[in-house]
Amino acid sequence: MLLHALVAFAAVAEAAPTLLRFGCSQVVIDRIDPLVNPDSAPSPHLHQVVGGNVFNVSMPSTDISNLASCTTCSYADDFSNYWTANMYFRARNGSYKRVPQVPNRLLFGDKFTTQTTGGFVVYYVSPGKGGVNAFKPGFRMLVGDANQREKRTDMKSQTCFRCFSGPNFRGDDAAPCQDRTLDTQALPKAPCLGGIRSNILYPTCWDGKNLDSPDHKSHVAYPTAGPALFTGSNIGNGCPATHPVKIPQVMLEIVWDTTAFNSKADWPADGSQPLYLSTGDNTGYGQHGDYVFGWKGDSLQKALDGGCTGASCAGLPVLTNEQAAKCKVPARVSEKWDGCKSFALRVPWWVGDTDRLQGWISYLEIPRAWRRSRDCI
Ligand SMILES: *[C@@H]1O[C@H](CO)[C@@H](O)[C@H](O)[C@H]1NC(C)=O
Ligand SMILES: *[C@@H]1O[C@H](CO)[C@@H](O)[C@H](O)[C@H]1NC(C)=O
Repeated sequence: MLLHALVAFAAVAEAAPTLLRFGCSQVVIDRIDPLVNPDSAPSPHLHQVVGGNVFNVSMPSTDISNLASCTTCSYADDFSNYWTANMYFRARNGSYKRVPQVPNRLLFGDKFTTQTTGGFVVYYVSPGKGGVNAFKPGFRMLVGDANQREKRTDMKSQTCFRCFSGPNFRGDDAAPCQDRTLDTQALPKAPCLGGIRSNILYPTCWDGKNLDSPDHKSHVAYPTAGPALFTGSNIGNGCPATHPVKIPQVMLEIVWDTTAFNSKADWPADGSQPLYLSTGDNTGYGQHGDYVFGWKGDSLQKALDGGCTGASCAGLPVLTNEQAAKCKVPARVSEKWDGCKSFALRVPWWVGDTDRLQGWISYLEIPRAWRRSRDCI
């Protein structure tokens, strides 16, 4: 697949494609969402966020690179924000524990990405010089739907999970969201010995006018032939006439370390899925990613036209892990996001199997308003 795409590409373009791949440490975990729920603190669910320090309850539709003073990404000029749901493991007794994110594998000699703290990896792809237009200041978009709980047929290779079969990313032997046997839209149904990777791919066509839209989606579109498969060198073919402007393929890649939760004894006896996104979704179909553009000046266009691979491009400045990890945003909503109980129940010892009772009661989905404290799910 990769070879085929590269050969086809070589015939039509002279410049080399660009594949930016770089790590970003966590800037904050917070129950806010300036794109979908601006001005609400708390917003409906928790997010884990990377990028610049302008991230807040709401964000002005302006050039945020002028307002930011730091970023957690390795490219020092990238003050964008990228955010997704957290993942939790629900134990049999109904308690939730956050599944930690771990740095991604070494590729292209980029050590920054192997040493991030929390966070995830961001990709930008251009087929070659002049092949795509960098986003304009104020641009933002959303992919996926937090409320989705059924498999989607119109979502082809846009969000997927890869179950690593062993340590050191074993099972990473095809590009993300390409392999129908390796990649699933649903959360993996059995423990993954090497953790779980989640990829989120954004559309590659823009209407050329609107920096955002009411659903944060309709100003962008997938190519007429459907979403591009991720090859690292193309963005799919023709854009629809309504969205004629080609924009880079942005992809987020999260690696969750599930190893502390892989014991079958901790998984539900009835075979139900114990992994939950922070939206309360244990299907995985509700995986989604938010993006607010914030590269400084023409730095992103330079990189996209640079014909580079990895985390060093066109002479753009880069940070050390120590510098990037210093960038933090305070949480606006106070919450115990590392773990919680779905329902705080006290039962006398003579009731017997309290774990089971607790688990059963938490299934009742006690409304949030009735709970004693704010929950992580
Ligand atoms: C973040 O938003 C809050 C609430 O709107 C506001 O009070 C605060 O000043 C903002 N912080 C920054 C750094 O802009
Ligand atoms: C619930 O179960 C988990 C996993 O077995 C355990 O770590 C935790 O301590 C338990 N919590 C309570 C309150 O019993």
